[in-house]
Amino acid sequence: MKYGYFDDKAREYVITTPRTPLPWINYLGCENFFTLLSSTGGGYSFYRDARLRRLTRYRYNNCPLDQEGFRIYIKDGDIVWNPGWQPVQTELDRYSCRHGLGYTVIEGERGGITARQEFMVPRGDNCLLIRFTVSNGGDATRSFKVFPYLEFCLWDAMDDSSNFQRNYSTGEVEVTASAIYHKTEYRERRDHYAVFWSNRPADGFDTSREAFIGAYNSPAHPKAVFGDGCTGSVAHGWQPVAAQQFDLELQPGESCSILFGLGYIENPEEEKWEAPGIVNKVRAETLMARYADDDAFDSAMSALRAYWEELLSGYQVSSESAPLDRMVNIWNQYQCMVTFNMSRSASYFESGIGRGMGFRDSCQDLMGFVHIIPARARERILDIAATQFPDGSAYHQYQPLTKKGNADIGSGFNDDPLWLIAAADAYLRETGDWSILDEIVPFDNDPSLAQSLLEHLRRSFNYTRTHLGPHGLPLIGRADWNDCLNLNCFSAHSGESFQVSGPSEGPVAESVFIAGMFVKYGRSWADICRHAGLEQEAEDADKAIAAMETTVLDAGWDGAWFRRAYDAFGQVIGGKECEEGRIFLEPQGMCVMAGIGKESGQAAQSLASVQEHLDTKYGIVLLQPAYTRYHLELGEISSYPPGYKENAGIFCHINPWIVCAEAELGHGDRAFEVYRKTAPAFIEDISEIHRTEPYVYSQMIAGKDAVSFGEAKNSWLTGTAAWSFLGVSQAILGVKPTLDGLQIDPCIPASVSGFTLSRRYRGARYEITVENPDGVQHGVKEMLVDGCPLAGNVIPVRDAGSTVQVRVIMG
Ligand code: BGC
Ligand code: NOJ
Repeated sequence: MKYGYFDDKAREYVITTPRTPLPWINYLGCENFFTLLSSTGGGYSFYRDARLRRLTRYRYNNCPLDQEGFRIYIKDGDIVWNPGWQPVQTELDRYSCRHGLGYTVIEGERGGITARQEFMVPRGDNCLLIRFTVSNGGDATRSFKVFPYLEFCLWDAMDDSSNFQRNYSTGEVEVTASAIYHKTEYRERRDHYAVFWSNRPADGFDTSREAFIGAYNSPAHPKAVFGDGCTGSVAHGWQPVAAQQFDLELQPGESCSILFGLGYIENPEEEKWEAPGIVNKVRAETLMARYADDDAFDSAMSALRAYWEELLSGYQVSSESAPLDRMVNIWNQYQCMVTFNMSRSASYFESGIGRGMGFRDSCQDLMGFVHIIPARARERILDIAATQFPDGSAYHQYQPLTKKGNADIGSGFNDDPLWLIAAADAYLRETGDWSILDEIVPFDNDPSLAQSLLEHLRRSFNYTRTHLGPHGLPLIGRADWNDCLNLNCFSAHSGESFQVSGPSEGPVAESVFIAGMFVKYGRSWADICRHAGLEQEAEDADKAIAAMETTVLDAGWDGAWFRRAYDAFGQVIGGKECEEGRIFLEPQGMCVMAGIGKESGQAAQSLASVQEHLDTKYGIVLLQPAYTRYHLELGEISSYPPGYKENAGIFCHINPWIVCAEAELGHGDRAFEVYRKTAPAFIEDISEIHRTEPYVYSQMIAGKDAVSFGEAKNSWLTGTAAWSFLGVSQAILGVKPTLDGLQIDPCIPASVSGFTLSRRYRGARYEITVENPDGVQHGVKEMLVDGCPLAGNVIPVRDAGSTVQVRVIMG
């Protein structure tokens, strides 16, 4: 069952009922100011950091769901309704929500009145804009009242939801004819305030929640709206809100619009005040003046559309499959931008106060984003590298506002260092910008410890090379990619972090997965060395990698698949002797992507085992059999009920590893079969089972051992976005940036006769036509570049600005 449809031309997903199984959200904002916005107008805004600079409140875990947001109440006689249905839930005659790229339009109609809310975060400004347009479609004059409403957060979202003895006394606002200023803590240690405004004077306002909503009411029944209107309350402490009232009258056929905004303003210390105790509003007024009328809104919207058009034009395919095209051309790339911006910080499943930017997460997100805005990827790589320790290990997370490593979680996740190589390698392949390796970057955020990025990568490689266990496999530390495989932590007490209890480093527990990474990204390191003229170092790396490959095929091979790990007692994890957790997905994906056992047959055998033991109709589960009891020596993985999350859930992030691995072996049919099982646009029809947004990936789908098999969770912020894009764009469609140029190497279903593709690469445009006359799954028999035959399939780099015609004949 569907709850809407894709409008590909407009690049929108159109939701046609407010009763989606869960709130289906969008992300507004591309750089510093962000708003999460649900299909009914729920959500919240923040400036750069969802924990430290939260502008509006949101209550996770609420009942009913999704109460807080950017609400507009319309009071038409005795009837109160919202254009987005929530929170009053008055039935609408018509409802739609169009989630587009960086904007959302929610429209509702009731009793002949149509109300539209267009939400966007304009490029270059720190604000949310909402244009509210209301029209009278009937044949009588209509008078009604309109009330916009939102609730401020007292900036630090963690403190805001816990430190009530203080916070109930600190709230402060200022009010003008058309604006409400939220200035809690501005008098002392903050240099920023928020402003909610409208582009015309309001007929009334409230800034105290108690006055507007009522102490014992909910946003579904605000006292002021259902009663006699706004009271002109000024909040002192308690809960500051922004509510306004507009008394409107519309003739038949008449429309009117009001522009609302929510802005974030910083003032330098010496310019904080206009008069004692009165906020200096000059910057806010300048911002409001920029968005004073419909023309200003329209041109900001056109600029946003043009921006996205340009960004997405970096990779556009035209194939026989509409869902494939819409994933590749629109939604998957869009989600890659969102994960790049948010890491795992703020979604409807991530509170914005938990995890900041993950080291490994951000490195992987960047791999799906680097072709969109390479310059931002460059900056990110340097930020991430600055949280690395001098020995090559790394803080596992950092805060986006401060860019400082998070000491609470610390380091000891032994896959982290290698992801930095993966990210830098992706950047170099995309851009050819070797100057990044000379950038001087701190270790441990300490400028006195700064070294070149090249040195950072070297230490990443060497960290893994020198931290090996009894079998010669890399030590796992607190966990590797699988955050829940905590082999050195032994957490026995509730409330403890599974990852942070116990020593970070044990001398025994080893990871076959990290070994696979070492081979794959070690090769990247060796290639980088070779290109940088460090031949001797490249050869040394080659030797270490070859030795690791042998070790994996020896201690890491179980007979029909790759083992997962050895625990702190030297016992096998992910092997045939295990009662539970006999086979894991991650090492199959990573080791085959690394090419381990490709010649000698283990790679193919590993993938056949995946298909036999782990595949389901909704995707590939992480392990089998699921753990049914808590294993102290394994940690969090065995804390989940069977079928959920890392305990045998369909972990979407690593399904594309199998796509890439199958493509590595030339299996185009199977690569595509795996791809389509988790790709949202392909499973739109089962939205009532899947439940999360059909336009973006979720982190996890409940596996076959779960009661709710097929139900997704944790949509939006997941490494699935980047990896799925790599899987489809590089492994299946086969357009791979290399250090020497663009390689074309499709691996597609035999039944596909071809496709065309346009790719921006290092400033040139490649117009690529792929033909598959012999119905093969893999292999290029002929390639013509601007009409001339090319030896091999790597097109040497062309001048920026040029257009290159490429014809690829498979066979
Ligand atoms: C797990 C969480 C865990 C987190 C650590 C996730 O993948 O499912 O439970 O605490 O990683 O960052
Ligand atoms: C989510 C985490 O953000 C990511 O870093 C990890 O790799 C996966 N979960 C798997 O545990």
